[in-house]
Amino acid sequence: MKVQGMNIIDKYFRRINRLRISVTDLCNLRCVYCRPESGLDLARHKDILTYEEIVAVVRHAVKLGIKSFRLTGGEPLFRKNIENLLWMLGKVQGIEDLAMTTNGIYLKNYARVLKEIGLFRLNISLDSLDAAKFEEITRGGKLKDVLDGIEEVLRLGFKNTKINVVAMKGINDDEFEEFAKLTLERNLEVRFIEFMAMNKDRLDSEGKYIPMAEIIDIIGRRNELTSLPPPMLGSGAAKLYKINGARGVLGFVSAVSQPFCTSCNRLRLTSDGKLRSCLLSGGEVDLKAILRNDPAEEQLTDAFLRAANLKPSAHSGKGHVVMHEVGG
Ligand code: GTP
Ligand code: 5AD
Ligand code: SF4
Repeated sequence: MKVQGMNIIDKYFRRINRLRISVTDLCNLRCVYCRPESGLDLARHKDILTYEEIVAVVRHAVKLGIKSFRLTGGEPLFRKNIENLLWMLGKVQGIEDLAMTTNGIYLKNYARVLKEIGLFRLNISLDSLDAAKFEEITRGGKLKDVLDGIEEVLRLGFKNTKINVVAMKGINDDEFEEFAKLTLERNLEVRFIEFMAMNKDRLDSEGKYIPMAEIIDIIGRRNELTSLPPPMLGSGAAKLYKINGARGVLGFVSAVSQPFCTSCNRLRLTSDGKLRSCLLSGGEVDLKAILRNDPAEEQLTDAFLRAANLKPSAHSGKGHVVMHEVGG
């Protein structure tokens, strides 16, 4: 483990240059694979990093060569005055990529301010195009809110917008083709994500998982697909394809069937200030405790190095994490 020039290289020679920041563990939806129907042990307000603290972490990360940031939740747009954090981040020198993953419910109202602030990229979660099914999966969400948000984002000219579809057998596998066809006319990447069994009591995961190869096969039955090279921006976790003649592209995230750990370049910051080394396994460093103790620069650097040092070479396959805590 060393800081090379201004870069963190971990012990498996992976360059750490991205940070996923969960700004809240709260969400306005309760997706069946993420949250229980009711009740949840959520961090208390004083345990959540303030916007000033998040910005301090980001400023320091930039000095260590981490220049790509993604805000997640829970639902990031559900945190009060989130635009204030975005304005603050917009002023930090050296950020090369500022992105957000959202469930899209509040997107229509926020899209313009996100654009003004200079947010580069948006990933929007959407698991069904059928209003009743969407309501069932999200336990009450309104599909129209998300669709209106997506249209607004496209109208405003956001580039590299992704739609995240968690593939679930018997739930939305009959919609894969319809999802894929959204790319015919729209400049979107529709990404199919392999379902990861996270926590037994969230959703009976048995039999819900569909491997990437099968999803590609389903879409490829009636559509001519061409494989594409990896993208310039983004994690590179998705394998890209295009329906011939389409405006947008298809992505397939195979976190289960073909883990991308060997090229993993990220750390995660939880909303209560833990610097986590991996989504599924590995340890974490309590950055909040350091931040709230008037730290010297070296202490912050040391916290990042320790977190990077905890990154496992590969995840164990099944996690015991709670998705909304680590921000997906
Ligand atoms: P880009 O920057 O656009 O590539 O986004 P992303 O894929 O990093 O972020 P997004 O929030 O859209 O996550 C998409 C899917 O990838 C989700 O299902 C995540 O759970 C999964 N994912 C994100 N980060 C990791 C990771 O570090 N390891 C694994 N195994 N899966 C991850
Ligand atoms: N398996 C795969 N993807 C998941 N996400 C949340 N939980 C899971 C899971 N168990 C996705 C969300 C969102 C992204 C942040 O993570 O749908 O798009
Ligand atoms: Fe909220 Fe995302 Fe979890 Fe759904 S998956 S409940 S939108 S945090």
